[in-house]
Amino acid sequence: VSRRYRLAVLIEDADRARVWLEALRRAVPDWQVDDGRRVAAADQVDFVVLWGRAEGLSRFTHLRAILSLGAGVDHVLRDPDLPREVPLIRMVDPGLACGMVEYVSCHVLRHHLGAPSLERSQREQRWTTVTPQLAHERTVGIMGLGAMGSACATRLTQFGFQVVGWSRTRKSLAGVTVHAGRHELPAFLARSEILVCLLPLTEDTRDILDAGLCARLPRGAAIINAARGEHLVEDDLLAALDAGQISGATLDVFRVEPLPQGHPFWQHPCISVTPHVASLTRPGSGAQSIVRSISSLLAGESPPGLVNQEAGY
Ligand SMILES: NC(=O)c1ccc[n+]([C@@H]2O[C@H](COP(=O)([O-])OP(=O)(O)OC[C@H]3O[C@@H](n4cnc5c(N)ncnc54)[C@H](OP(=O)(O)O)[C@@H]3O)[C@@H](O)[C@H]2O)c1
Repeated sequence: VSRRYRLAVLIEDADRARVWLEALRRAVPDWQVDDGRRVAAADQVDFVVLWGRAEGLSRFTHLRAILSLGAGVDHVLRDPDLPREVPLIRMVDPGLACGMVEYVSCHVLRHHLGAPSLERSQREQRWTTVTPQLAHERTVGIMGLGAMGSACATRLTQFGFQVVGWSRTRKSLAGVTVHAGRHELPAFLARSEILVCLLPLTEDTRDILDAGLCARLPRGAAIINAARGEHLVEDDLLAALDAGQISGATLDVFRVEPLPQGHPFWQHPCISVTPHVASLTRPGSGAQSIVRSISSLLAGESPPGLVNQEAGY
């Protein structure tokens, strides 16, 4: 990459903006890296690195690409200020996938081993022994086989789980039984004793975790949602838990974040709440990923994470 490119960091939160400015200046010392909230000559900026809302984006009139620090870009695509003709690149970072693999493995194993119910027994000082199933007797279903889902599916096969996956177009993953498209969703759900949602939020996937979906899972299934809060119809989950159709849920993402005080999920005995921490973009490796994406774009290639704005992810 020869010319001295200009890059602006557009992040509302001042502390977070500073961290990313430093990381990017370290990653590309020859480029001009500015705080996008108060940059001069915005029309000469080549790349904007964005977190959260795209406010102020319309000042940057000659962009070569917009790079989002998040893996999901649903909120960016909803922004009326987003210039549709500029390539949008989302974060695809090995560190991000690694974090998700650890989170999903932990919570799949928790449900698999009945940890939530053992913890309830402990609180009630009840000595209840049940022989747990082994991983090879358990099927885990992964919705979404992208950067996150495929890494999680592969790792879960290494624990010995039977793993089924579902995506829009058919994937091929060693050791994973794959399903594709709406018409194959029922067959996928019928096998998923522990269901993990790692879908992007699009018009096709909003509210997908609803009463109909719960009813198609094996009785007593568990649900883990680490994708987006709007995938889940909250009242439908509560009803399915009450009815015993679903035995437990681990939720990292919510329709309203932070999850409001007094929300029924906080106290529910069968729900584990984590505060949107399944996987975080780390400035060190994240800045390197941004530079890789830009270099590949400048070389005329299609960078990893290039968003298909038509498909919405
Ligand atoms: N909680 C956290 O901390 C955290 C951290 C990172 C990411 N996330 C979330 O994790 C999710 C996945 O991220 P990612 O980077 O893995 O996304 P990705 O690489 O774009 O993968 C998305 C996957 O979902 C599939 N898909 C999309 N629409 C579908 C549909 N209508 N029906 C069936 N499958 C569909 C895609 O199918 P194709 O393969 O056919 O395209 C692909 O396999 C996002 O929602 C992101 O926001 C959360």
